[in-house]
Amino acid sequence: MRKKLVAGNWKMNLSFREALDLTAKLRSEFHPSDKVDVAIAPSFPYLYPIVKMLEDNEINVLAQNMHWADFGAYTGEVSAPMLRSVGVNSVILGHSERRLYFHETPEILQKKVNRAILEDFHVIFCIGEKWEDRKAGKHIEVIQNQIAGSLFKLELQDWNLITLAYEPVWAIGTGQTASPEQAQEMHSFIRRLIKNKYGSETANQVRILYGGSVKPGNAAELFAQPDIDGGLIGGASLKANDFLAIIQAAKEAG
Ligand code: 13P
Repeated sequence: MRKKLVAGNWKMNLSFREALDLTAKLRSEFHPSDKVDVAIAPSFPYLYPIVKMLEDNEINVLAQNMHWADFGAYTGEVSAPMLRSVGVNSVILGHSERRLYFHETPEILQKKVNRAILEDFHVIFCIGEKWEDRKAGKHIEVIQNQIAGSLFKLELQDWNLITLAYEPVWAIGTGQTASPEQAQEMHSFIRRLIKNKYGSETANQVRILYGGSVKPGNAAELFAQPDIDGGLIGGASLKANDFLAIIQAAKEAG
């Protein structure tokens, strides 16, 4: 039985003060549960203070991105060893905003994933098709290429560190969620893909999150689907009450 995971991707939002206030509210209201894991991904400058605030709490802190090298002349970048040195050992990679605005290709993402695994980092790896891909009936092929292009050189045991997040680009920040049936169809395809390559045990244990306009009002029906193991939440993770309601929905579905 896979434990659900609800992760908040704060993206490039919130002042330092607002980030601390939100963390404080989550810290006081989230109680460890055997039904759901919770994580938040603040911006880089806020990671260390938030890790400190959550030291005695089960909320995990994620980075939103990292570089593939360990150290070096890469102005403006942040590496896995740097993250580890401030107490972070999990990272989101492959988000569609990174692919779109920063031209992260499957090859670049493969290098980042490899570095993350080498450093024993947990990775939430995002995949998702654009609306025109879906309209053209190419959504399955796009997802297959994104997964195969960055993850299919991994060793079997590396999958212990991987969580997938299916985020259709047309559903991100638009208020237009994939229907539970559309999401379930893709999640079950993804699980079959992993099964064909790595076997049933790996396919059954890997968590596949859904992301894209998840809100308190639609979380329960999404999380009720058999292959949806939680959510990667953008906008609604910036409001403590909404995020807590989504966590509660995952608990009840779990
Ligand atoms: P929204 O929940 O704002 O649609 O964002 C989803 C997302 O991109 C999470 O990574």
